[in-house]
Amino acid sequence: MPRISTHSGASGRRAASSRFISRFSPGRGSAYPLRADDPAREIILFEYQSLFDQRGGQYSRANRLYPEARAEEASAILSHLALSSGSVWLDVSAGGGYLSERARAQGLPPARFACDGSLPFLLSGGTFVRGCVAAAGLLPFPTRLFGAVSCLAALHHAEDPGAACRELLRVTGDGGRAAIGDVAGGSEASRFLNGFVDRQTESGHHGRFYSLEDFEGFLSTGGARDRRAERLRIQWILPSRRDAVVFFRDLFGFVPETTDLEIELALAELGAAEGPAGFQIPWTMQFVSASPD
Ligand SMILES: C[S@@+](CC[C@H](N)C(=O)[O-])C[C@H]1O[C@@H](n2cnc3c(N)ncnc32)[C@H](O)[C@@H]1O
Repeated sequence: MPRISTHSGASGRRAASSRFISRFSPGRGSAYPLRADDPAREIILFEYQSLFDQRGGQYSRANRLYPEARAEEASAILSHLALSSGSVWLDVSAGGGYLSERARAQGLPPARFACDGSLPFLLSGGTFVRGCVAAAGLLPFPTRLFGAVSCLAALHHAEDPGAACRELLRVTGDGGRAAIGDVAGGSEASRFLNGFVDRQTESGHHGRFYSLEDFEGFLSTGGARDRRAERLRIQWILPSRRDAVVFFRDLFGFVPETTDLEIELALAELGAAEGPAGFQIPWTMQFVSASPD
């Protein structure tokens, strides 16, 4: 397996930016800021680019303010990755590095690399890991480079989820695990995203949500073995109903006219209720992982 070297460099936003802005450029290897008129943008633009460019900061702030809210979801996908202390893993469509933060919180190694289609989203993260802008379906990494590869809460945005999964498997090393996790098709959460979130955001939300069988199919196309698949009724847990409203408002970037009452009603429709651990919001997800053949 090829070696990955990292360099820590100077601290601070400027240093972080210069390491993050690594354009996908096979064979050139140089890193420089990506300009809006750069023809290379074509290969990294995706349907929701402007949405995530605009609201990545808010999304990451919600995750930072309430780091435990999505803990069950993070634990579920991390368990599929079977990480150990020496694992070198990649988080694809990483956003602001939320999953890497959760790995660290669980005593696991953070992701060695993060990539996402949105540069502002990558930069909004609290954890610094090396990152680059890349479309999930065209990863700028050599074959079999990583011990594990994850993709959380993003496949419903992928134009071609089969191609994305082929890429996840391609860059996963022998015996490693590639894992996908996303909102389950037909679930309350999928209806909430394409309903309430669609209506209450400037950009709308038109996610493509799939069945567990679809997910298994996507993760087989690249040649896979030892597949593990599960559909879980995850709970997002906030300290109180009030916190849930704040979290949802930030995470999804609702238009300012959205009232707290409207969010509370939408949460009730999702099946949210006080529970032993706090204010619980059911969020049904499915997780599939496999090793490359
Ligand atoms: C809902 S966020 C999830 C972020 C992170 N994985 C998490 O769980 O917090 C979806 C992420 O997918 C990224 N994304 C969407 N479509 C993409 C694509 N085709 N290629 C790469 N990234 C994409 C977005 O920029 C965004 O960061």
